[in-house]
Amino acid sequence: MNISIAVLPGDGIGVEVIKAAMRVVDDIARRFGHKITADYADVGWAAIDKYGTALPAETRQVCLASQAIFFGAVGLPDRDKTLPQAQRPERVALLELRKGLFANLRHVVLPPGLADRCPLKNELIKNGIDIMIIRELTGGLYYGQPQGIQGRAPDRTAVDTMAYSEHEIRRILKVGFETARKRKKKLLSVDKANILATSQLWRETATAMSKDYPDIQLEHIYVDNASMQLLRRASEFDVIVTENTFGDILSDEASMLAGSIGLVPSACLGEPDAHGKYAVPFYEPIHGSAPDIAGLNKANPVGSILTAAMMLRYTFGLAAEANAIEKATFAVLNEGRVLTGDLGGTASCSAVADAVIAAIRS
Ligand SMILES: NC(=O)c1ccc[n+]([C@@H]2O[C@H](COP(=O)([O-])OP(=O)(O)OC[C@H]3O[C@@H](n4cnc5c(N)ncnc54)[C@H](O)[C@@H]3O)[C@@H](O)[C@H]2O)c1
Repeated sequence: MNISIAVLPGDGIGVEVIKAAMRVVDDIARRFGHKITADYADVGWAAIDKYGTALPAETRQVCLASQAIFFGAVGLPDRDKTLPQAQRPERVALLELRKGLFANLRHVVLPPGLADRCPLKNELIKNGIDIMIIRELTGGLYYGQPQGIQGRAPDRTAVDTMAYSEHEIRRILKVGFETARKRKKKLLSVDKANILATSQLWRETATAMSKDYPDIQLEHIYVDNASMQLLRRASEFDVIVTENTFGDILSDEASMLAGSIGLVPSACLGEPDAHGKYAVPFYEPIHGSAPDIAGLNKANPVGSILTAAMMLRYTFGLAAEANAIEKATFAVLNEGRVLTGDLGGTASCSAVADAVIAAIRS
């Protein structure tokens, strides 16, 4: 199979972790007989320094010509604060590249060998943690109109609007049901239907759609309860689907359960437009550019390696290849010999990639 990827390492540790993950991707492609075309392009400060903007036209072109975007991280706090908000790399690059991608998937797995890194007590996680969080990414409070601050101090009023159409709700729930179908056939839909109209429509829509998915056990939960239960019985969660703001908060809470921010992969996916054309899917580890460890070969590349596995599975339909990467990566983590500093080890970023490649070959 021919695979074309836009590779945007960006700033800080983005460069190291994407380099490590691409070595794993190249190895798996050779092993399974695929041809990878990886087009590297600048984004973030790497691009500002060359082109004066965090997302130059050259980079957009590369992305549009590719089947998937593989992204590291952008932003350097010391330099970001010299720019107005609207020109900062995260704002410019992420908003633009994720346009139209309404489904944000975060896969939170605690490898059993790293149970001690999880902030929860061992008795609460003895059955493991493997949660897929599906967050709606293009609607809700962050985009609803009207939005803004009106009047004069000290009597100003601020307004944010939470709005969802049935179409927006249906398409993200569909991702939820279909993801659940490939996992344990359990879908937890998170809302605040006791208070919010958007949540009432969300719950009605989910209940109606569940008739088309008789094999999936649909459960509803209020968001406040979900945030508590996530800490009380994390092992029982499997696929969670929710709207933008709730998903933003719950996915950060859940990410902590993996043991390190450096372990969690993510994907942003869309649907075809009226002409059947997809926005280019976007894949990134959830962490930032970590300037405190950048350039030292200390960053944990696992989030990026697992992100690459998600890309192979979701965009290219290469389940066996994705499984091989995940199996090898978790074997390395569970064995506990080659771990980076965030997991209490001393291994380098490149040594972790070496170990994963060796585990794929063994
Ligand atoms: N999607 C993105 O590009 C993205 C996401 C978050 C933050 N950022 C940007 O990154 C910069 C730094 O942000 P921050 O410090 O708040 O968050 P961060 O995720 O970069 O770092 C937080 C802490 O986690 C550690 N860490 C993060 N990833 C790690 C990894 N793979 N291995 C080992 N340790 C890791 C860092 O060393 C740091 O101590 C900021 O400019 C921010 O705007 C970008």
